[in-house]
Amino acid sequence: MQSDRGHWGSSTGFILAATGSAIGLGNLWRFPYITWENNGGAFVLVYLLCVAAVGMPIMMAEFLIGRRTQKSTVGALRECAGPLWGIFGVWGVLCAFLLLSYYTVIAGWSLYYFARTAAWSAAGYPGLATGDLFQAQVGNAGLQLVLSLGFSVATVAVVWFGVREGIERLARVSLPILFGILLLLLVSALGMSGSGQAFGFLFQASFAELEAGSMLSALGHSFFSLSVGMGAMITYGSYLSRKQSIVKASAAIVALDTGIAIVASIIMFSVIFSVAGMTEQVGASPVGMLFISLPELFYTEVPFGALLAPLFYILVAVAGLTSTISLLEVVTAYLIDEHAVERHRATLLSGAAVFVFTIFAALSFSGTPFFSSLAVFANKTGWFETVDHFVSNIMLPTGGLAVTLAAGWFISRRVSHGELVDGNEPGWFRYGLWLGFIRFVAPAAVLAIIIAVLLGADFS
Ligand code: TRP
Repeated sequence: MQSDRGHWGSSTGFILAATGSAIGLGNLWRFPYITWENNGGAFVLVYLLCVAAVGMPIMMAEFLIGRRTQKSTVGALRECAGPLWGIFGVWGVLCAFLLLSYYTVIAGWSLYYFARTAAWSAAGYPGLATGDLFQAQVGNAGLQLVLSLGFSVATVAVVWFGVREGIERLARVSLPILFGILLLLLVSALGMSGSGQAFGFLFQASFAELEAGSMLSALGHSFFSLSVGMGAMITYGSYLSRKQSIVKASAAIVALDTGIAIVASIIMFSVIFSVAGMTEQVGASPVGMLFISLPELFYTEVPFGALLAPLFYILVAVAGLTSTISLLEVVTAYLIDEHAVERHRATLLSGAAVFVFTIFAALSFSGTPFFSSLAVFANKTGWFETVDHFVSNIMLPTGGLAVTLAAGWFISRRVSHGELVDGNEPGWFRYGLWLGFIRFVAPAAVLAIIIAVLLGADFS
């Protein structure tokens, strides 16, 4: 069994792969859109607090659990915290399943916009209402199935090649290019007339508008964006060797992920506040923000925009891919470690199983009665929005809570100290800080927010 497990090729390779998992549609698509729905400012501030006080300590905990046990989610939790903790591992695998099912659909949208922008760049931008175009493409069931099938195949293809040859290699190539393109877009967005308003929206906090539901969304999204709360980082940590500093790696990953989310939002909101009519178009379907507001920017404002537009959407797809592979890897590694399935078979099996659920998500906006009318939470319709809400606001926070308790209270301090602090430095301060956060601050924050929501019965 051991021979089926892989290892990262180098420290940088690991950091890039984990950053690739963290940076994805959560940063480019989800963060701007939920920030819009939650009125910016105060929401962003709560989000940043959640990242620093809850998300980052949990990321370190996940890496240390994975590296210590050299096992994926289920086996790792069971081995280091006790037999019953395996249940939370299974919860995580289930979560990966559900998350991947609709995440693939959004990634599929970026393939569509790649094709459209490539055509516009060749033949000229028709200046159409991008909101209507978005509605038309999500409503087209056949198109949605083809796009998400294509994306699922790509995900399976990378995981097939394993940790070093597949996952790490893709991250090495794609991340630097993504950073470059985003920087270019940022520069041109800053020159737009709406950029001042964008900064105001993002950074001027008015707490009067902040509800318990928004705080839960901020918490849930911090887990979503950092890829924690379901064991993906346990799995990535299990391919890690002793030499890597978990503390430094986590700090770098968290900083990059948060920075990219903020940059993406500045870009998106600058466009929305600059282009006439955009606020209404986006307001009608905030889910489509990334695909509604950016096409305009490329063809009307950005120098060389016609060149950059298709490139950008292909990069969104690749950013999505470095995340979908980490989700599929959770399920695949579970099969490899716990059921002794060989990697290629495990990849195909898990890919196919997840795709069944992807079909549900892909048909959510098509008007097909069952898929689009399922409504468990108020305001969330269709498999897509329902699962998105359930995963991010319920599964990730509970999974994250389980990790804080396992790492803080059930793993011996000798073990966690040994994993977090290098042999040749004292590091007690750093370790004590982490321990305080993982034992008290993080679980208290998660519980407080969950209880506030339950008391207010605000399941938006
Ligand atoms: N972090 C990714 C994003 O922001 C999504 C993701 C990948 C994820 N793997 C995960 C979220 C594991 C939670 C858990 O797009």
